[in-house]
Formats: sequence, structure tokens, C-alpha cells
Amino acid sequence: MGRLDGKVALITGAASGIGAASALRFAQEGARVAGLDVQPPLDGDWPEAARLSGESPFIQLDIRDKEAVFEAVAQVESALGRIDILANCAGVGGGGPVHLMPDEEWDRVVDINLKGTLFPCQAVLPGMMERGGGSIVNIASVEGIEGFEGGSAYNASKGAVILLTRNMAIDYARKGIRVNAICPGFIDTPLLQSTLDMEGMAIIKERIREAHQLGRFGRPEEIANAVLFMASDEASFVTGQALPVDGGYMAGHRFGVAELMGLG
Ligand SMILES: NC(=O)c1ccc[n+]([C@@H]2O[C@H](COP(=O)([O-])OP(=O)(O)OC[C@H]3O[C@@H](n4cnc5c(N)ncnc54)[C@H](O)[C@@H]3O)[C@@H](O)[C@H]2O)c1
Repeated sequence: MGRLDGKVALITGAASGIGAASALRFAQEGARVAGLDVQPPLDGDWPEAARLSGESPFIQLDIRDKEAVFEAVAQVESALGRIDILANCAGVGGGGPVHLMPDEEWDRVVDINLKGTLFPCQAVLPGMMERGGGSIVNIASVEGIEGFEGGSAYNASKGAVILLTRNMAIDYARKGIRVNAICPGFIDTPLLQSTLDMEGMAIIKERIREAHQLGRFGRPEEIANAVLFMASDEASFVTGQALPVDGGYMAGHRFGVAELMGLG
């Protein structure tokens, strides 16, 4: 028996990375999945998720386009009958020092990450309330909990996603709707590669890897497993949480004492 048997899930950012991996995990656990993304699906997880879940709409849109998001949600509800789970995985990196940041860069990052979380929630909530339940999982970041050099717009948007999550958890709890966030550490996806594989970033990439106590970057399926837990009824008493899934990135610092103690 699958952990999401009988459920319908809508996943944004489903074409790539964490969204595609979540779609695949959901489909493996018996959910019918629908996907939204601005780009067509990359080879790999989404096509496999679509195959597993049979009838599985994939709608290409810009998540900042509220009207398109509402139309897509209506289309999915009519094709699959309901939406029980929303996983908001669409997002972009970006930022830079605030004194140099063009307005357009701020708007791009904050709008995709924050309105891109808000709009799908607004579109699915009426149906969830009508049916008396649902589960929403927002992908925030460890960078929504603490700062990171040059993070500015990205960190501000992810911090806001965490508080939006908590507020929605309070507002919709008595309607049977749970709202949680997952805060990934640095995960090996196209988004991470596009920043850390830039010229001059090799040493920084190594330091960031080292800042994860487990000594490596995460894999998209490791985040998908946490999204699956939060989305499923196994998390029936969990709401309003922002769970770091980060290989120990948020645990604290490493200065070499562990080596002195023979712990490598
Ligand atoms: N990779 C990491 O290290 C990391 C760490 C913490 C949080 N996150 C978050 O996880 C989420 C998924 O990122 P990922 O690492 O899988 O990256 P990714 O680039 O592989 O996937 C993000 C997806 O979002 C889609 N997207 C971007 N802008 C969009 C728009 N305007 N409309 C619709 N879709 C849009 C992209 O097309 C892409 O398919 C993001 O919110 C990201 O901020 C990633």
C-alpha cells in the first residue's frame, strides 16, 4: 500500500530538481500528480512520475501569473477531481549586495519565490476547505532561517515563505489543512550548479560543502522524502513547522576539535 494512495498532488517547479524528485516520490507512493513549471519537463523524474501516475497534467506557466495559476488549478481539479496536496517547489536563486541590486532583480527573486508560493495556495485553498482538509508543503531554505553572504533577495524571500507558512498553518488549522515548510541545505540541482559552478566559485563550493556536517551536498530525493512525509497523513499532527533537511548545516560550527577527539 502506498503512503499517498488515493491522493491528488499538485507540484510546482515539477520540471526539475526538488519538484521533479518530489513528483516521482509521490507517484511511487500512489498519488496522482500534476505539475506546473515555466519550462518543459527535463528528462528524468517528472516523465517517470507522469508514467507512474497515469493521467497527470503538466501545465507550462509562469508562477507569477496569478490568472494562469488559478486557471491551471481549476484544470487540474476538473481533470483529477480534487487537490489534496500542494507542494510549492518552484523557485529561483539570486540577490547580491543591496546597494547594487537593480529593482528588477529584487522583484524577480521575491516575486517568483513568494508570490509563486502565495498564488498556488490561494488557488487550492477554497477546494481544500470545501473538502475539509489538505496538506501544503512550501520549500523554503536554511537561507530563510539564517543569513548568507550576498543572499539578500533570496534570503528575504525564503524567510517570508517560512512566516507565510506559519501564519497559514494558524489560519487554516481548524479547516483541517496543514501547512509546513522544508528548509533544504545545499542540494545538488541545476539551481545550485548554476551558482556554484560559476568561475571563481570552486573554493567557495568546497567550503559550503564542508559547512554541511555530513560533508556533502544533499540529493533532491533526500528533500523529496521529507516533502513526502509532511504531505502524507504520517505527519497528521505536524503543522506550522519549518524543518531543516540540511546534512547538519544548521547544527553549528566545525573548527577542528572533532579531529582532535579522533572523530575525523
Ligand atoms: N538546490 C538547493 O540548494 C536549494 C536549497 C534550498 C532551497 N531550495 C529551493 O528548492 C526549490 C527548488 O529548487 P531546485 O534546487 O530544485 O532548483 P531547480 O532549478 O532544479 O528547480 C526549480 C524549478 O522552478 C521552476 N521555476 C523557476 N521560475 C519559475 C517561474 N517563474 N514559474 C514557474 N516555474 C518556475 C524552474 O523552471 C525549475 O524547474 C526552490 O524554491 C529553491 O529555492 C533549493
